[in-house]
Amino acid sequence: MDPPTKRWGVRGEGSHLRELASGKLREQLIGGSSERSEQVVPLGYISGDNQSMTDELQPHKRRVRYQGANPRRFQDKYKELNPAAAAHDSELQKVRARGQTPAGTHRPICVREILEILAPKPGETGLDATLGFGGHALEILPHLLPGGRLFALDVDPIELPRTEARLRAAGFGEAVLLVRRMNFAGLPHLRPDMGEGFDLVLADLGVSSMQIDNPARGFTYKVEGPLDLRLNPQRGRSAAALLQSLGQSELAELLRENSDEPLAEALARAIVLAGRVTPILTTTLLADLVRRVVRAEGAADTLEEDTRGTLQRTFQALRIAVNDEFKVLDQFLAYLPSCLKPGARVAILTFHSGEDRRVKKAFQAGQRAEIYSSVAQEPIRASFEERRDNPRSSSAKLRWAVKAD
Ligand SMILES: C[S@@+](CC[C@H](N)C(=O)[O-])C[C@H]1O[C@@H](n2cnc3c(N)ncnc32)[C@H](O)[C@@H]1O
Repeated sequence: MDPPTKRWGVRGEGSHLRELASGKLREQLIGGSSERSEQVVPLGYISGDNQSMTDELQPHKRRVRYQGANPRRFQDKYKELNPAAAAHDSELQKVRARGQTPAGTHRPICVREILEILAPKPGETGLDATLGFGGHALEILPHLLPGGRLFALDVDPIELPRTEARLRAAGFGEAVLLVRRMNFAGLPHLRPDMGEGFDLVLADLGVSSMQIDNPARGFTYKVEGPLDLRLNPQRGRSAAALLQSLGQSELAELLRENSDEPLAEALARAIVLAGRVTPILTTTLLADLVRRVVRAEGAADTLEEDTRGTLQRTFQALRIAVNDEFKVLDQFLAYLPSCLKPGARVAILTFHSGEDRRVKKAFQAGQRAEIYSSVAQEPIRASFEERRDNPRSSSAKLRWAVKAD
């Protein structure tokens, strides 16, 4: 098998067919050059009658492939730092109108609701613990001016510099926007810089659309990529390495604990057995295995839905594990009160029941201990319109808390 790093090109890249069409492989296979056939019948000689005969003699010319409304390759889609991107604006609008998020971008979720909760004011100090594409930060920053500032964190060494460059280019300098590449679990490290603490804090958990859309990050089962799933690929171990280290019962427990996966046992058995024969190094290898398990276990009438759900939960469970997402969230929630000014507002957006449970419990415990004066009783959901326009908002749950005076 080819090493996986060579295999995650776009479908058809480097294919033998293309070489055959260009004549290189044909020369190797049948000898002679493709130009020779061109000399047999001069081009102007072709008429309707002898078309089919001369077609055989013509060097094969590939039909120009329909490129669709949008570029197919992720590399071509990533336009955000390219000035030519402006020309793509109308295409991007079309993509959004179809309820999709253009690759290389991210649409902030529940913006109106979050602004209502955080109520940012001039002169205040805010924290965006998960900067991502900077969508929420861009909405919050103008309200903090003049005189205020926003601390912005993210663990992702690939996307963070791009986002920072974009926000700086939008006019937010170092005095107003302090960007740090760090895990929000390390909140206490901000103490020396944060003064008396934050007036408002936002955490929008999970992954951004840019991370999901980039095949090289391995976050999606939909395209081939290395089975990585790390928010910071420079630290820790990839999902592929994790899978190789786990036994069947450990993997089943991980799938149950992190994603409430009903097929945890069957999946763990199949993955561990297959991994003994060939290490599962790519997203598509894992996805194929999951599909086979669902087919073997599932009911025919719900097969498609079951498969999608199981794929999502399997990848999510691995992502949570490689990034230690529950542990870092618990640490963040534990340190948070000591970093808040009296009356500070907190908003946390989650996409997974395990995360929502943690936020809910931490806020309720904080209220009982009179650290928070009030907390959300129920999570706020994205509006019907937002869910329709941006399906990624469908699973979002927004909770809030207010620090006691
Ligand atoms: C859903 S996106 C945030 C999107 C952002 N609110 C926006 O509007 O563009 C989540 C981001 O949080 C980052 N992230 C996840 N866990 C983190 C952690 N423990 N510490 C810091 N950043 C984290 C991810 O790398 C990702 O960029």
